[in-house]
Amino acid sequence: MTDSPVAELRRRQPELRLLTEPAELEHYGRDWTRRWTPNPLAIAFPASVEALQDLVRWCCQRRVAMVPSGGRTGLSGGAVAANGELVVSLERMNRVLDFDAVDRTLVVQPGITLHAVHEAAREHGLIYPVDFAARGSCSIGGNIATNAGGIRVIRYGNTRDWIAGLKVVTGQGELLELNRGLIKNSSGYDFRQLMIGSEGTLGIVAEATLKLADPPLPSQVMLLALPDMGALMQVFSLFRARLSLQAFEFFTDHALRHVLAHGAQRAIDGDHPYYVVTEFDAVDEVARDAALAAFEQALEQGWVSDGVIAQSDAQAAALWRLREGITESLAARRPYKNDVSVRISAVPAFLHEMQALLAREYPQIEVVWFGHIGDGNLHINVLRPESLGEDAFIAQCEHVTRLLAATLQRHGGSISAEHGIGLVKRAYLESTRSAAEILLMRGVKQVFDPHGILNPGKLLGDA
Ligand code: MLT
Ligand code: ZN
Repeated sequence: MTDSPVAELRRRQPELRLLTEPAELEHYGRDWTRRWTPNPLAIAFPASVEALQDLVRWCCQRRVAMVPSGGRTGLSGGAVAANGELVVSLERMNRVLDFDAVDRTLVVQPGITLHAVHEAAREHGLIYPVDFAARGSCSIGGNIATNAGGIRVIRYGNTRDWIAGLKVVTGQGELLELNRGLIKNSSGYDFRQLMIGSEGTLGIVAEATLKLADPPLPSQVMLLALPDMGALMQVFSLFRARLSLQAFEFFTDHALRHVLAHGAQRAIDGDHPYYVVTEFDAVDEVARDAALAAFEQALEQGWVSDGVIAQSDAQAAALWRLREGITESLAARRPYKNDVSVRISAVPAFLHEMQALLAREYPQIEVVWFGHIGDGNLHINVLRPESLGEDAFIAQCEHVTRLLAATLQRHGGSISAEHGIGLVKRAYLESTRSAAEILLMRGVKQVFDPHGILNPGKLLGDA
């Protein structure tokens, strides 16, 4: 009698932690999308690069599909295991391995949380500047796999800009050491950058060398209420010209209603359709006066109707909570999410068209918008009414997403700004990437993962 794959794996790696209980399979087989029914073969927890490499080699020989797994906070189904895959949790590989003060780099294992990376950088008087609300649960491996963005992109860029080196295991179990922390390296194709944003379809991150930066200057946080959508980009242009922005985020009155119901504190009275949370360098009285002057100018122009400046760290955190708490406040409703981007210059025209499209296509459905407007990135969250069944709701949202994808294409935008393609958006990839690009992407996949065992079905769909 031949062994089952799980029994064979147990014999091959007796040290490997391997879970197969139904509750564990369910927990590790899904991400924040909660749309697919988890159905993994088992959950493996390699504790070293060698164990990971051996695991991939075995999967390659046995043609067992793998789903790399970090904090599973993803919103595109990139970490879902619904087809008998082996989930490879990097949870046990969660340590800081090295800090180099001269290079200003931190070497970490992939399962470390973003929050722990922030703390480790802070201990050395530096920062790792990529930041977003899931910081406490998401892992750096997942951030790299999706090229995560977040609330500081306007100042610091995406995860892609902060990776100095990567160790990855390819679909055939080779260990590649990419870029080795070099600042300058003009020696041909940069596989490090190819791996970033590849959603675990080309390789599994085994180790990452992160760049660190000086802490930002002291800052102030301001909440603004806006009378209409047209004012958003007017205020952004004014503030960007007059202040040194660290963040510029927006949300609607719908988003505010949910976040207040979830325990956040109202900071501005009255009803206003749009809000902006912005953070900017405010090192001295001159900088703080400049911020007040910008606010007053926006008020005079009629672009803002009210505003408040945080007077303490606690108040700043309370203002940020109004923006950062939105995802959590909507989570129980399992929203259908679009995460789109256009160039900043295209935002006004795109917003105008998008608003008309959503009003037309979702007449009876609540749509909650928010996002990183200073980066041209909008999150559209569609909430299922109780009267509509799950399947009918998804069908309607997919119909609207096709229309949205066509609108994005006309504006040169992207169907996924920062959440990744995963399972959720793979049908719309062609709206953002040309047929020639997708063919090349499939070719690249074949090179790094010839047997198609790495996160099959994600990003490019089934081959
Ligand atoms: C955010 O900006 O808060 C995240 O991308 C999460 C989300 O879109 O729900
Ligand atoms: Zn976001």
